Amino acid sequence: MKTADIEAIEVELFVDALRRRHGYDFGDYARASLKRRIAGIVAELGCRRISDAIPLILHDEDILPRVLGMLSVPVSEMFRDPQVFLGLRTHVVPLLQSYDQINIWQAGCAYGEEVYSLAILLEEEGLYDRVQIYATDINDQALARAEEGVFPLKGIRSFADNYLKSGGRRSLTEYVHARYGFAAIDDRLKRNISFAHHNLTADGVFCEVNLLLCRNVLIYFNRTLQNRVLHLFHDSLARNGVLCLGRKETLAFSDLAGRYQPLDAAQRIYRKVPALDDAIVPTVR
Ligand SMILES: C[S@@+](CC[C@H](N)C(=O)[O-])C[C@H]1O[C@@H](n2cnc3c(N)ncnc32)[C@H](O)[C@@H]1O
Repeated sequence: MKTADIEAIEVELFVDALRRRHGYDFGDYARASLKRRIAGIVAELGCRRISDAIPLILHDEDILPRVLGMLSVPVSEMFRDPQVFLGLRTHVVPLLQSYDQINIWQAGCAYGEEVYSLAILLEEEGLYDRVQIYATDINDQALARAEEGVFPLKGIRSFADNYLKSGGRRSLTEYVHARYGFAAIDDRLKRNISFAHHNLTADGVFCEVNLLLCRNVLIYFNRTLQNRVLHLFHDSLARNGVLCLGRKETLAFSDLAGRYQPLDAAQRIYRKVPALDDAIVPTVR
């Protein structure tokens, strides 16, 4: 048997150990990136082979947060893909303006760059006092940092460029302050954001939302899991709710494709449309 085939068996054993011992199921994550992450864990744990790491997964009580931290990819930036934020300003803000209370779920929030970008946008559009944003992730270490809202100063120049390209009306320095070599998010932007652990592969709907952003997370899943998570999103969205996916993600393959209308197809912003059988059919007497 070739080394690559043996490694493929080891990956499945690793995933099985994690699922059966800790209840986290990575079985439907796309294989190429999952293999790379597992190789990183093996090196970090000082093991020679994947199978050497499996006893640690089974017997080390404290290993789970480390392993989840290394399996997830909390890479992000403020106003990442600025055109998406421009699309939200242009097509979604006018819809949200008609609501007194706006619930938003941002799934896969990483270190918080995206949720604070959204908070800035909503503040500038005069909507922030009406919103409650739930920002969730599977990675507790990332969530803790997101809640702090502190970023390395070196990224700020490109965040500021993105902000202007996204239609930002002021200067990013009004919201992000240099502090001891770091960039800290202004506390007033944190007031309507709650951070919480939520695992998209296992946890259910926790709130009905008017806007749901989940960008650059589905790319790590295979099609079966992507479709399951898209069903979770559909169930979470209120009537006419808006879904925003990553630019490399799509719902075109999903059985739910017909249940959305594009608001800005290029930026993957869609509006949920009522199904025909949701319509109120007048009773015939
Ligand atoms: C590449 S980051 C995307 C961050 C941000 N949404 C963006 O587009 O810049 C992917 C995030 O998804 C999270 N993630 C991966 N699997 C997850 C799961 N099963 N449930 C919830 N979050 C998950 C990771 O921890 C990571 O923070």
